[in-house]
Amino acid sequence: MIPFGRSLDEYQAMFGLSRRDQQRTILDCGSGPASFNAELTFAGGQVTSIDPLYQFSAEQIEQRFLHCLDDVMAQINATPENWTWSFHSDSKALKRNRVAVMECFTADFGPGKAAGRYLEASLPKLPFEDGAFDLALCSHLLFLYSGILAPEFHLQAVQELCRVAREVRIFPLRTLTSQPSTDVEPVCSMLQSLGFAPKIMQVEYELQKGGNEMLSFSIPGDSV
Ligand SMILES: C[S@@+](CC[C@H](N)C(=O)[O-])C[C@H]1O[C@@H](n2cnc3c(N)ncnc32)[C@H](O)[C@@H]1O
Repeated sequence: MIPFGRSLDEYQAMFGLSRRDQQRTILDCGSGPASFNAELTFAGGQVTSIDPLYQFSAEQIEQRFLHCLDDVMAQINATPENWTWSFHSDSKALKRNRVAVMECFTADFGPGKAAGRYLEASLPKLPFEDGAFDLALCSHLLFLYSGILAPEFHLQAVQELCRVAREVRIFPLRTLTSQPSTDVEPVCSMLQSLGFAPKIMQVEYELQKGGNEMLSFSIPGDSV
């Protein structure tokens, strides 16, 4: 998987995060080298980020990022029909953003890991109590890797997110080839059978063409 991360303003746009949301306890799943945790912690928020990548040092993660960066940018430049330049103005701005995000993550990772804000863990089994978080976020993992991550993995991972958080938001609902993920419908059916009311909502963020929807659901009867 591409070891890229995203910034607080991207999370706000991808997940429609309100000021109130940012005061809730947040779990970010599959965060990668994102600056979301560093930036929101600095602003007074409470975020825990999990990723199997966090078994490595900041330097090792940065090396993997630098190793992939030019190839990924070349792929983006070679497929202009797949990208929308609204949030980021063009591919050069996107590259600058990704490097700045990585630098922010690298500076925060050591102190953040010592404080327990970055944990090595993997879906579909998380090391948290039931209802440990107000809100779980998952960006560019579930649905994006449909076909690589199995349908059963999606169902188990979403059930686990429901177990540890009162509300869950997942973005985007498209695959790596910008096709609608075939895992969205089975996940929504499973959620409905468990008493959840999943909602697909349009959000402000769009980078993959057509990739501007998130899936959101809360525990039944929750008024948050
Ligand atoms: C494409 S990156 C997305 C990073 C970030 N959330 C973003 O939107 O830019 C996918 C991330 O998911 C992590 N990942 C892979 N398998 C995972 C799993 N089973 N549970 C949690 N994270 C996983 C990868 O290590 C990688 O950092």
